[in-house]
Amino acid sequence: MRDLSWPAKVYLFAVIGAATALFAHSLITKGQLVASESLGILLVLALLFLVCESMPTLLNVEQFAVSVSFSAALAAVVLIGMEGAALVGLTAVLSVRPGLPLIKRLFNGAQFALCGYAAGWVYQQLGGVSGVPQVNAFDDLIGPYAAATAVFVPLNIVLTLTMISLATQVSAGEVPMRGMVQFLLTYLGYGTFGLLVAGLWATIQSISAVLVLLPLFVARWAFGQYHAQQRSYDATMAALCQAVETKDYYTRGHCTRVSLASTMIAQEIGMGMDRLRAIRYAGMLHDVGKLGVPTKVLQKEGPLTEEEFAAIQLHPMRGLEIVRGIDFLDEAFAGIMHHHERHDGKGYPMGLAGPEIPEFARVIAVADAFDSMTSDRSYRGARPVEVAVDELERGAGTQFDPVMVAAFIKALDRNPWQPQRRVEPPPEDAATIKDHDDPTMPIQVVTGQ
Ligand SMILES: [Fe+2]
Repeated sequence: MRDLSWPAKVYLFAVIGAATALFAHSLITKGQLVASESLGILLVLALLFLVCESMPTLLNVEQFAVSVSFSAALAAVVLIGMEGAALVGLTAVLSVRPGLPLIKRLFNGAQFALCGYAAGWVYQQLGGVSGVPQVNAFDDLIGPYAAATAVFVPLNIVLTLTMISLATQVSAGEVPMRGMVQFLLTYLGYGTFGLLVAGLWATIQSISAVLVLLPLFVARWAFGQYHAQQRSYDATMAALCQAVETKDYYTRGHCTRVSLASTMIAQEIGMGMDRLRAIRYAGMLHDVGKLGVPTKVLQKEGPLTEEEFAAIQLHPMRGLEIVRGIDFLDEAFAGIMHHHERHDGKGYPMGLAGPEIPEFARVIAVADAFDSMTSDRSYRGARPVEVAVDELERGAGTQFDPVMVAAFIKALDRNPWQPQRRVEPPPEDAATIKDHDDPTMPIQVVTGQ
C-alpha cells in the first residue's frame, strides 16, 4: 500500500467508496439487498464465484490474473437482480489466494460489485426480469442479458487495467491491442455460461451452476497449467541465452534482440502462432552452440588460425547437439543449424542456397546481421538503423533472402527499432576483443600456423 502512487491510492479508495455507497443506497431505499427466498441462490453462486476466483489463470501481463468467476455474477444478474450480482462479486474479498494483500482483495471485491451493479442496472433498464426464468419467457431475457454481459466484461477490464497502469506505471496502451481484443472476445463468449446457469435453474436448480461452471473452471485451470509450462520453457531459454552471452561481454542482449527481430519478420510473412513461438525460441538460441566453442577462440584478438575458424564454423552444429533433446523446439532446430547459410550458397555449415535454406534460418540470418550492425562492438560502435537497413538491402539476393529483407523493412516501418543502449566497456581492458560470429564482418584467417 505504501508503495502505491497517490493517483493509485485515490483511484483505489474511489472504487471501494463507490461500491460501499451503492450497497448503502440499496439498503436504505429497499431495506434489504436480496429477498430472503433468494438467499439459497445467492449462497450457491457466491460459493461458485469464490472457487473460480480462488484459482485464477495468470496471464503474461504482470500481476494480471483472470478467472471464469464472472459467469456466476452474470447468472446472479438474472436470478437475483443487481444487488445479488454485486454481492456475488463482493465475495472476491474472501478468495483463497495466499499472500494476496487485503487492499487488493478489497479492490477486487469492490470492482466486481460495481460491475455487478452496472450489469444488473442495464439488464433491468432493457426489460430483463429478475428471478428464476420460466421456459416461455426465456427468449425475452437474451437481449437484456447480452447487454449486461457487454457492460460487465469491458467495465471489469477497464477498472482492473486502470489500477494496474496506475500501480505499475505501465500504460494501458502498452498492452498489445491484438491480445486485448482476443481477450475481450473470449470473455464475452464465456459470459453466455451465466445465461445457461440461469436457464437451467428452473429445472435442476443449484446443480445447474455446478454442471455448467465447474467444467469451465477445470478447462481454465488446465489452460493455466499450459501457461505455467510456457513460462518455464521461456525461463529455460533465457537461462541458455544468458549462458551464451556470459562468454562475450559485447553480445549481451543479442539473443533477445535477434529473437525479437526474427519474430517481427515472421509476423510480417504471416507465420501462425505455433511457428511464431518456435522462431522466437530459435532466435534466442541461434548461437547456443558457442557454448561448445572455446572462449579464447570466440574472443581472440585479430585473425583466427584455420583450426580456430573451423571451431567457429562448428557452432551451428554444436548448437543443434546441445538442444536436440528439447522436443518443443521443433522447427527451431533448422534455424539454429543453418543461420550462417547465405542466399548465394557461400555460407556454412552446409553451403545451402536460396530455397534450400530452411525458412527459419533465412529469417534469423537477417535478424542476426541487423542486430550485429546496430549494436556496439569493441572494435566499432553501433551503426544507425538506416545504415544497417541499407546494408541489408545491399546484401539481399547475395547474403540474405530478399523476401526476408523486404519483410523486415516493412515491419520496421510499422514498429521502429529501439536502438541498443550504449554498452560501457567492461571493467578490465577488453577493448580489442573481436566478435568472430558477427555475420557482417569478414572472418580473417591466418594460414600456415
Ligand atoms: Fe552464429
